Amino acid sequence: MRTSRRTFLKFTTGVGLLAASGELLSSCSNMMSSNSNVTAEIPWVSGMGNKLRFPAAFQGNTIVAAQTTQNIYPEFTSKVWTFGNSYPAPSFDVRKGDSVNVTLKNALADPTIIHWHGLLVSQGMDGQPMDAIQTGGQYSYSFKVQQRAGTYWYHPHPHRDTARQAYMGMAGFFMIRDNEEDALSLPSGEFELPLCIQDRRLQNSKELSYTPSMMDIMAGYLGDTILVNGTPQAYLGVKSKLYRMRLLNGSNARVYFLGFDNNMPFHIIGTDCGLLDRPYEVRSAYLAAGERLDILVDFSRVISGQSTFLESRSFSSPNSMGQMHSGSLEQGTKMPILRFDISGSGNLMQIPTTLASFEKLYSKQAKRTRIFSLQGSSSMMSGMHTINAKLYDMNRIDEQIPFGDLEIWEFRNGGAEFHPMHIHGAHFQVLDRNGNTSLAPTDLGWKDTVLVNANETVRILIRFDSFKGNYLLHCHNLEHEDDGMMQNIEII
Ligand code: C2O
Ligand code: CU
Ligand code: CU
Repeated sequence: MRTSRRTFLKFTTGVGLLAASGELLSSCSNMMSSNSNVTAEIPWVSGMGNKLRFPAAFQGNTIVAAQTTQNIYPEFTSKVWTFGNSYPAPSFDVRKGDSVNVTLKNALADPTIIHWHGLLVSQGMDGQPMDAIQTGGQYSYSFKVQQRAGTYWYHPHPHRDTARQAYMGMAGFFMIRDNEEDALSLPSGEFELPLCIQDRRLQNSKELSYTPSMMDIMAGYLGDTILVNGTPQAYLGVKSKLYRMRLLNGSNARVYFLGFDNNMPFHIIGTDCGLLDRPYEVRSAYLAAGERLDILVDFSRVISGQSTFLESRSFSSPNSMGQMHSGSLEQGTKMPILRFDISGSGNLMQIPTTLASFEKLYSKQAKRTRIFSLQGSSSMMSGMHTINAKLYDMNRIDEQIPFGDLEIWEFRNGGAEFHPMHIHGAHFQVLDRNGNTSLAPTDLGWKDTVLVNANETVRILIRFDSFKGNYLLHCHNLEHEDDGMMQNIEII
């Protein structure tokens, strides 16, 4: 008895020592060893995988943020931080003109606040870091939905803790509908699929655990497993019909290069902030963290009884550090996302030739140009992601922007990292990339997040004509955001 107790003590002491130096050990191994302990998933064939989950509809007037347990894997209970004890988070599904009244209650151990990503609401309803509420606190939101139909979303936004809270499970859809969209009779009901795509590190433990190393802060926290609506190895049975998919990249850092494994065409009908002027046929499209894409997919292109995968194709990642990550797959790794099993018969369906009225913005009307120079880490230090050489300071206003003026904003990325830049308080249009005005369909609509690639200068046209007050500009690589790549912008 005595001997075994001593042995036990000795053992725990050893573990304690290891844990104390754990941070040092893990950052060393991240730098030295290549990524060997996880591999890209092999497409899960028919009979394998998990049936795709869909978020529940939000009901009531209260939403509780709390640490709960959920079944990410059917046979295994994982700790998940949830909104409304529901995973994935419940979807808001509202119409333009509706009033939204909801009170956030914070049952987490840390401060939090909900931000409605893409919603044009007053400063006090926007859910900014300075509005974060303590454990046990609550925050009441009450606003009118005044913008066009589109696929928006919500997630936490507390200072320096957004990445962890979003990663742990707190993110949901906020869908807005309007009469203009209704008139198009787009696929609805079972033919309308909200799909939130996220990557997580689950292969080794089946548990969500957010422990970024310095390398992770540089490239972003990349996972080894794709979840769609919280479902790993997801599949869905579909009919030989036309479907509308509302794709949301809810990942912390990963960029997806989406397509189907049979390379069938699909149509892009909308981007971050609603419908395009007309559908654009493509076979692939990039989707960066924070962005949304509305697409039409006709499964009558697939032989009944067969399956096709929505996948992320391989692409070359500018970040050569990626391959040194341990426990994650680098940017640009080919990954299966969601298997569709097709049944029944059908013919190619007619899709609308025009979609929504669309006000195109023109650079000659712009009053001025604002330049934002984006800097990534040049060393192994954190706190290295800056905008115009500044780290985020909650109490400093970085830009003052006259209400109603059309402006050109120029994002200059001279580094080797992706920066999906996101703006609160206004929607914008992409003007050009490295001076090139012939843009991919993903750049043609109203947006609130734009991917700025390595060594790229992206110019956008933006006009704040909804509310005055303080809003935010930040990188939606959530590790970069928490690292300080954010500014306060004041509309005056
Ligand atoms: Cu989706 Cu300020 O964030
Ligand atoms: Cu936002
Ligand atoms: Cu960034």
